[in-house]
Amino acid sequence: MALICFASAKGSPGSTLTALAVAAAWPTSGGRRKLLLEADASGGTLALRYGLGLEPGLVTFAVAAQRHLDPEALWGHAQHLPGGLPVIVGPDNPDRAASVLARSAGMIASRLAEQSDLDVIVDIGRLGTEAPNMDILRAADVILMVARPTVEQLQPGAHRLRSLPVPDDRLSWVLIGQAPHSADEVRKALGFDVAGVIADDPRGAAALEGGAAGSRLRRSALARSASALAETLAKRHHPVARQMAAAEAAVDDDKRISRATFEMLMNGASNGR
Ligand SMILES: Nc1ncnc2c1ncn2[C@@H]1O[C@H](COP(=O)(O)OP(=O)(O)OP(=O)(O)O)[C@@H](O)[C@H]1O
Ligand SMILES: [Mg+2]
Repeated sequence: MALICFASAKGSPGSTLTALAVAAAWPTSGGRRKLLLEADASGGTLALRYGLGLEPGLVTFAVAAQRHLDPEALWGHAQHLPGGLPVIVGPDNPDRAASVLARSAGMIASRLAEQSDLDVIVDIGRLGTEAPNMDILRAADVILMVARPTVEQLQPGAHRLRSLPVPDDRLSWVLIGQAPHSADEVRKALGFDVAGVIADDPRGAAALEGGAAGSRLRRSALARSASALAETLAKRHHPVARQMAAAEAAVDDDKRISRATFEMLMNGASNGR
């Protein structure tokens, strides 16, 4: 399983929307499945935003996670976003979200880890001093700190990243736009890898929040940058894509698998499930 966590430290830079857009673009090659999990301790937004019920969701999953969970039973706690992406929504009530995570984050992480064919993209939301979702973060393959590259968001983000009890090579930035500071400047000034830059695209963001799906949305700058980030992360963390990336790295430069071929392979494998 790959467990990819998006978080923020200050402001509302776009942790939820970035997690959603990356999950939508995440490859399902090689018979793998994907799931968006809302584990924001200050309350979920996806059920409200997309008119879903508050249950099934994190609360029902947390109860089920206390006991052995049949792999297929997990899907009983998921709903579907417009476009079909499966999501486990968090409760909108912040107190409820924080308490369910404080009680069950460890079991949730364990149950997810048992699902060998599943990749999970998590919206952790804003990280405070208390992080009831810490057990999910500890289990993550990577924690991506989403920030607009302003000093007001970068500085708190860097403090949070440094305070997390996980190795540095599991920590990265995801920037929303490159103004006023570029990815290179951020990397040099604050350390940590910059896994990707999501386009600052208010129209694309509004379309995604409005439930748009299909080819018009996929052409938006936001969706294209999220696809590029999903591809980067998948090459590092998606078990099948990682094998393909290793094969790609092994061939001579002039025989390199092009991006188009990579996408074709991913789609082909996915269609051939
Ligand atoms: N890539 C983007 N380009 C432009 N606007 C964006 C982008 N991503 C998010 N936004 C906008 O920023 C606002 C916050 O987005 P979102 O809810 O995803 O942030 P968040 O970090 O999850 O916030 P919160 O801390 O409230 O959970 C929304 O109005 C959204 O439209
Ligand atoms: Mg959010």
